[in-house]
Amino acid sequence: MSKPRILVTRRWPSAVERILSERFDVTLNLRDEAMSVEALRQAMDEYDAILPTVSDKLPAAVFDVVTPRTRILGNFGVGYNHIDTNAAKGRGIVVTNTPDVLTDCTADIAMLLLLTVARRGGEGERQVRSGEWAGWCPTHMIGTKVTGKTVGIIGFGRIGRAFAQRCHFGFGMDVVFYNRSPVDPSEAARYGARQLPTIEEVLALSDFVSLHCPGGAVNRHLMNVGRLAAMKPGAFLINTARGDVVDEVALIAALKDGVIRGAGLDVYAAEPHVPDALKVMENVVLLPHLGSATEETRTAMGIKVVDNVTAFFEGRSPPDRVV
Ligand code: DGY
Repeated sequence: MSKPRILVTRRWPSAVERILSERFDVTLNLRDEAMSVEALRQAMDEYDAILPTVSDKLPAAVFDVVTPRTRILGNFGVGYNHIDTNAAKGRGIVVTNTPDVLTDCTADIAMLLLLTVARRGGEGERQVRSGEWAGWCPTHMIGTKVTGKTVGIIGFGRIGRAFAQRCHFGFGMDVVFYNRSPVDPSEAARYGARQLPTIEEVLALSDFVSLHCPGGAVNRHLMNVGRLAAMKPGAFLINTARGDVVDEVALIAALKDGVIRGAGLDVYAAEPHVPDALKVMENVVLLPHLGSATEETRTAMGIKVVDNVTAFFEGRSPPDRVV
């Protein structure tokens, strides 16, 4: 029996590409560039499985082929808002993702952003490298103390919890959170956190607000003009979730007008585009979507995709099926 034909849209850690190639008839996108909607639409006719990433957009138009050959999309990532899952479902195409394995590393990047923006790490690094540092003095580059402050988490899923744990048990912070569905208080207490009924209550109390909810239509511009204004004066915003959760135009205005004190961002609305206005602000820390970017995690993500796709073609239920 011939092996299923599989398209991998970006290069993966080589160990995982090897495993994939042993099991399947694999085509790698050797240019390692995001694929266009049209190229992905054509691939629907040619491959039994497509393994996309967050950099590939799969709107309804991708699924608009007469009889798609593709039966499964094994997404390399936990977030899948770049895939129109309703359209996939409508064509009988299974979608899987890679939860759990990137939880710790993404929470680490949120912590890194919080500490860097609070303690002015980016500015300090730039000053040292440019040779402008004139030496220690009591008033040099004064930041904000983190211990004892309140952090507000929006979205208390796996990553939100891991971040809460770091903030509370690692850095002595008070943690409050908003989550769409109620979380058992004893479960929340395991992470040193307390649920509040509304986003607004979280915003009003928090010195740092960190976003850990999914992207896509449901949370688009959740942090809008009004919600940014509802943040505690002098607070910071951290985003490692998805860029479209924040209205970037409103964020830039809030930073310029001093409505909030700073921001730490790992994700942007139209990646890899980052608004120029953000790049020139000293009180903003900008990372290039590094949440899951460790050797261990990217390898584990690849293994998860392999497991999902293998299960599917062996007639078993993929462990991380989302539709
Ligand atoms: C994800 O998994 O959703 C990340 O954003 C990309 O690794």
